[in-house]
Amino acid sequence: MQFMKGKIQKIKIISIAACSITVFLFFLFILILSNKKQKQPQLNSEKLILGFSQIGSESAWRTRNTDSIFEAAAENDIQILFDDAQQKQENQLKAIRSFIVYQVDVIAFVPIVEDGWDNVLQEAKDANIPVIVVDRKIKANQSLYAGFIGENGVEEGRRAARYLLNKCRNSEGPVNIFEITGTENSSIVEERASGFREIIGTDSKFRIIHSENGDFLRSRGREIGDMLLASNVLENGNTTNTIYYNKQKIDVIFSHNDSMTLGFLDSMEAHKINPKGYGTIIISIDAEQESIDALTNGKLNCVVECNPNHGQMLMQLVKQVAKGESIPRITYNYETVFTEDDNFSKYDPRGY
Ligand code: AHR
Repeated sequence: MQFMKGKIQKIKIISIAACSITVFLFFLFILILSNKKQKQPQLNSEKLILGFSQIGSESAWRTRNTDSIFEAAAENDIQILFDDAQQKQENQLKAIRSFIVYQVDVIAFVPIVEDGWDNVLQEAKDANIPVIVVDRKIKANQSLYAGFIGENGVEEGRRAARYLLNKCRNSEGPVNIFEITGTENSSIVEERASGFREIIGTDSKFRIIHSENGDFLRSRGREIGDMLLASNVLENGNTTNTIYYNKQKIDVIFSHNDSMTLGFLDSMEAHKINPKGYGTIIISIDAEQESIDALTNGKLNCVVECNPNHGQMLMQLVKQVAKGESIPRITYNYETVFTEDDNFSKYDPRGY
């Protein structure tokens, strides 16, 4: 009898446990379903769908780049499945994999760094989804992606250097250059740096005394300015308008983007210092409105344009690859140079 009672008790416990597990699994299933529903974008199967992975929003340039792509997509009746990678390659890899799962028609992405894309691109290729690389280049087998659309970073670096060569044509030298670079291992930094070095290398009076990574961020530009100004105090406590790095006078600041340049100028202004006014040559890249304003207000010498308006050209390429057509390996956007010698009244508003 006692034995039977124990057995019934055990069966009761087991069935209560089984019941609770079933209820738990049921709610878990509902939760997963509803979660999936929330994340599932409303895709319109009538339209061409472009999965687009952007690296983030580190600068006004980047924001304009994203807007240009959205505007052009709307004008071309293309639907975008968007992901902001928050400056992390791992997020971009996840996003591209999710685009493959959603079976988008075309994938476009701005690669934050050059390496590490082969596997995910092979997955896209296996799924028959063409990929277009935007803005920054990658080191990967060319058969894995359809083509590249963006700026010519080497030419941007060359343009900055050509301006400098001309500006310093009467100086005997040495000309000490302090370079502020952006995201490490990104193609754009590598290209701008190599184009710049190619041209200044033609005259031995130019010396890059230091390169500092400013991550393309305004906050870092300001920190770098503060760091340089910390050694700018004379023995009597007064600050100077000349800036130094490791006791070497800086003649030129070559900054790889406007955000860092503007951050650097923020720092100078906060310390009531105007280096350009005292002969330091300041060269920047991007041509955001704020930096063009700084140029016209006498705070910069030269701004090399990096055109963020990739949208229209990208959409044409998207339509072509979606039809199975091949596209050029490289499509460059139009870009120019703005200098202190220009007629400023001819400048159109930049729009970013
Ligand atoms: O890749 C383009 C560069 O990235 C732009 O010069 C800069 O502003 C951005 O962060």
